[in-house]
Amino acid sequence: MAGIDYTERIPNNVSLHENRRLQRALEDWQPKFLEWWQDMGPNGYQAKEVYLRTAISVDAQGWAHFGYVRMPEYRWGIFLAEPEQGRQVNFGDHKGQPAWQEVPGEYRGTLRRLIVTQGDTEPASVEQQRHLGRTCPSLYDLRNLFQVNVEEGRHLWAMVYLLDAHFGRDGREESEALLQRRSGDADKPRILGAFNEKTPDWLSFFMFCFFTDRDGKYQLASLAESGFDPLSQTCRFMLTEEAHHMFVGEVGIMRIVQRACELMREHKTDDLRKHGGIDLRTMQRYLNFHCSVSLDLFGSEISTNAANFYTAGLKGRFEETKKQDDHLLNEATYGVAELDGDRIVMREEPALVSLNERLRDDYVADCARGVARWNEVIRKHGIDFELKLPHRAFHRAIGSFAEARVAPDGRVISQAEWDAKHHEWLPTEEDKAYIQSLMVPVTEPGKFANWIAPPARGINGQPVDFEYVRLA
Ligand SMILES: [Fe+2]
Ligand SMILES: [Fe+2]
Repeated sequence: MAGIDYTERIPNNVSLHENRRLQRALEDWQPKFLEWWQDMGPNGYQAKEVYLRTAISVDAQGWAHFGYVRMPEYRWGIFLAEPEQGRQVNFGDHKGQPAWQEVPGEYRGTLRRLIVTQGDTEPASVEQQRHLGRTCPSLYDLRNLFQVNVEEGRHLWAMVYLLDAHFGRDGREESEALLQRRSGDADKPRILGAFNEKTPDWLSFFMFCFFTDRDGKYQLASLAESGFDPLSQTCRFMLTEEAHHMFVGEVGIMRIVQRACELMREHKTDDLRKHGGIDLRTMQRYLNFHCSVSLDLFGSEISTNAANFYTAGLKGRFEETKKQDDHLLNEATYGVAELDGDRIVMREEPALVSLNERLRDDYVADCARGVARWNEVIRKHGIDFELKLPHRAFHRAIGSFAEARVAPDGRVISQAEWDAKHHEWLPTEEDKAYIQSLMVPVTEPGKFANWIAPPARGINGQPVDFEYVRLA
């Protein structure tokens, strides 16, 4: 791969041309990435022109550059947010020291693990979503899917940059392994559970963007507080892209809710299946599923790992520097929900070991704001129904509720009640088959599948009926 013009092919603000060693590592990795993208990226659309946003620099003009691109020719760049002059480690044992520009030797293994775990989610979601293009509800949605996919690809580049630039040979090996694991593969699965689930339909996709990608937002936000400055700068820029993924999820669900309400009013029934819509009870079951598997991503309520990451200055709290406390947390406590026999109670636990739960709380509050906006649509249609977040203990596989059976309203229940009721709470085989039956592609510009309302506006000031993907 000699003769690549890195400032052109890999837009970057990390002076790649001055770093021969890093340049060689990325030269070696790039063709493997492209091979992975061809094999595991969006199936069936690699040769099509897509109206995509490309980041070519981090300033206001450069980071949202729109134009038609074939995805394999997308310019996956490496961008760090502008450095903050005089930045310090803002929490933990090293609080007040200058932020690290190089990996501190004692934290090398831990930091690498944090970066690899984050990095692994990026290609995983591309793999999970690779067949969705064939059943898109519109060209507008197809384009949004591909935008999310190429950006997750760029996030992989961002993590590989950190590994290659700061972790030597181990980093290069991890970079390769990121391309070798496969979502859902029994032998070489992706690292985290939710990233091995299937995303078989567009309702699942929008729920994934809303719930699972939002976990990404909270993980990135706490890594953006890191005392390791290159990680902080990398994550800060990734968060600007992550915001778009949340938008795709929230507005996607909102449009399905909107369409459901229209059909309910038109046909005076909440049984929408004979009218080709997705009823709100089915939406609630999908919501319950995606919310609960995403809550697991935050890990155990009580975690010494989380405490160690914090004390070491590697991973902070959400909006760490905005918090008014000592940023050491040696004395502080935090309220954590715990199982006590057949009840769920709140207990004060040492704040340091409760950091996963605290981040989960920030996440739940953010999810609740989105759900309130969906309910606003239902309310405006004068329909008496409310979508609700399930209780955090519902359907959990990780942490202190993993062994318990808990209803979405937070009641601890018996196995018998769970067996009798869980089909009311989680998507059933019938639900899945019905949703699958709706997955018929709609590819005429300006047309939308019957189960989803058109968006209020198009992308980048373009009309809704713009040809967002050129299929001809
Ligand atoms: Fe991402
Ligand atoms: Fe994302």
